[in-house]
Amino acid sequence: MTNSAAVLADAAAYAAAVEEASQAAAAYYATGESTLDDDAYDRLARGIAAYEADHPEQTLDSSPTGKVAGGAAVGDVPHTEPMLSLDNVFSAEQFAAWTASLERRIGRPVAAWSVEPKLDGLAVAARYRDGRLERLITRGDGIAGEDVSHAAAAVVGLPERLSEPVTIEVRGEILMTDEQFERGNAVRTEHGGAPFANPRNGAAGTLRAKDRAYRVETTFYAYGALPLPESGEPAALTDSPHSEILAYVAALGVHTAAGTPVEPVRATGVEEVQERVAAIGSLRASLPFGIDGIVIKADLAADRRDAGSGTRAPRWAIAYKLPAVEKITRLLAVEWNVGRTGIIAPRAVLEPVEIDGSTVGYATLHNPADITRRDLRIGDQVMVYKAGDVIPRVEAPVAHLRTGEETPIAFPDLCPRCGSAIDTSEQRWRCTRGRDCRLVASVSYAAGRDQLDIEGLGATRVVQLVDAGLVTDFADLFTLEREQLLALDRMGETSTDNLLAAIETARSRPLSRVFCALGVRGTGRSMSRRIARYFATMDRIVAADAEELQRVDGIGPEKAAAVVAELVELAPLIDKLVRAGVAMTEPGATPPPEPGTEESEADAADAADGDARGPGSELPLAGLTVVVTGAMTGALEKLSRNQMNELIERAGGKSSSSVSRRTSLLVAGEKAGSKRAKAEDLGIRVAEPGEFAEMVAAFLAVDA
Ligand code: IVH
Repeated sequence: MTNSAAVLADAAAYAAAVEEASQAAAAYYATGESTLDDDAYDRLARGIAAYEADHPEQTLDSSPTGKVAGGAAVGDVPHTEPMLSLDNVFSAEQFAAWTASLERRIGRPVAAWSVEPKLDGLAVAARYRDGRLERLITRGDGIAGEDVSHAAAAVVGLPERLSEPVTIEVRGEILMTDEQFERGNAVRTEHGGAPFANPRNGAAGTLRAKDRAYRVETTFYAYGALPLPESGEPAALTDSPHSEILAYVAALGVHTAAGTPVEPVRATGVEEVQERVAAIGSLRASLPFGIDGIVIKADLAADRRDAGSGTRAPRWAIAYKLPAVEKITRLLAVEWNVGRTGIIAPRAVLEPVEIDGSTVGYATLHNPADITRRDLRIGDQVMVYKAGDVIPRVEAPVAHLRTGEETPIAFPDLCPRCGSAIDTSEQRWRCTRGRDCRLVASVSYAAGRDQLDIEGLGATRVVQLVDAGLVTDFADLFTLEREQLLALDRMGETSTDNLLAAIETARSRPLSRVFCALGVRGTGRSMSRRIARYFATMDRIVAADAEELQRVDGIGPEKAAAVVAELVELAPLIDKLVRAGVAMTEPGATPPPEPGTEESEADAADAADGDARGPGSELPLAGLTVVVTGAMTGALEKLSRNQMNELIERAGGKSSSSVSRRTSLLVAGEKAGSKRAKAEDLGIRVAEPGEFAEMVAAFLAVDA
């Protein structure tokens, strides 16, 4: 929360908070390498201020409260006039209250405002003598800053020469645009350097760096100017409206935010200001550089003069802070997803973190080269950015928070979806199967052990069939001809006959497996079994509407609608399977009564009660939730876990993979571990494989 504060319980907690904040501020203003993200720092600073308000006598000298740059002192070049900070408001109400108090102070309404972006970089003063850039100085502690003139040549928008030979100081912000940040990190890591965590950090580090073997660009935007003491320059610089000063600076050839989508505008009245504030806020995500708020300044010199300044901030300007859009969190893993066209894209799995009101658990990583460029590692603390509707992205690791425990990110050798080779010749990796990747993957999935279980039909063989144009979906498998297979590479008579026999066997698999083979999203093995047992025939599944689907245990309104929609798309494939003679019924299951009949109403009520349907209640495992663990023996020895689950469900039970209070029975084989212990703890009945085999003996014979 933007407005929350850390709670400091006692003097020790207060002292620790002051220490942490001072260190973070020092790092932030020196190199940009803060250990805290902005939100965390603000929370801490507010906690410190609250504690000091309650215990003024305990206030420590080292406290960052009320100091420019949190008291971080760097540099020895005195400023001609202090470089102040800004006070903050966080809401329309706070802004209206601030305006009212300013107008009370000056005794009249503020004539006009300048509303401009609060650029997220660092403040500098650029001194020009006779139109030539003489010195570039950081803000430092506001009284004196550091000379960073050596970096000026790589700052876009800060000309070496002005269009007129004037002697003035231009003040503004140096930042990195998103593009400069990307490019900067690329060169930096190429040279063995650690990447910058975010553009602000990059700008700060770049300004201070000397003798770098490479060049990294930053950008300057002016937000003010003043005459230098020795200049004898136009009094206009101090007496003019702020908007005119900015226009003057721009005319001299210095970058201002004019021309960007968030350029400074003049506004009269609180309402007009609010409108512009909202507009800038909504433009934020689409800007090519970072902003962390909006600065609102009294435009007329007379208003500014009458308002005056405090030691930390002027009273004629305020920063209207936007919510933080960057947070530091941990990179837990990288997933590789394959898109429609075969593009293989990495995605970061993050320790969930709240950013601007939503919880972020995943973020895009663009492409493999990007991971290398950013030198990301698993376990890294990373800076994550999310604003508005943009997809969250990992900006970079926070390299100085590394512990040494981080591990490299493994890149896939083969397409993670279909197992084919990967084309790595371009930045974006692509499955060599392109659009066919999904086809290879879906046919391989359908042929898999837990679906149609077609022995001898691995990914390589599927690739061959797809490449030869013999298979455009898995229904085509059932119409393959012997000659066609024999014509393929490495397909002799024996393998061909074996494959054809395996396909023949697959033709009579139970409906649950055929349905599962369709790969309907959200219906894995166990859901497919429940659907097949409930409806008993494919016709009935296809005819079901969303309401009827919800009678299947575990299907809610959302999933029901999605399944119905997907089945409409799959109708041609299902028809093709029927034509190919593939079995479309579930052995042992009875179709439910036609919807709309009296019987079906009672049935719906049963389902709502959580009861097994009609005939199911006579089955040996009716109403029982069964978990299997350990190695099966005896009659059950050859059954895979999926086949065990199928067996449980045929016998009327519900299979589950984890033991909880809701478990009714645990089938515990050899080497059963923690699940057995947990079941015993919870007093759940435990059966050995032999005992269980007897309970379900009548269902063991049914061929799965
Ligand atoms: S005016 C005395 N205008 O925000 C007036 N500051 O929190 C002080 N900043 O140190 C500055 N964009 O680094 C001003 N349009 C803008 C700004 C801006 C960013 C920064 C600047 C300043 C800090 C205060």
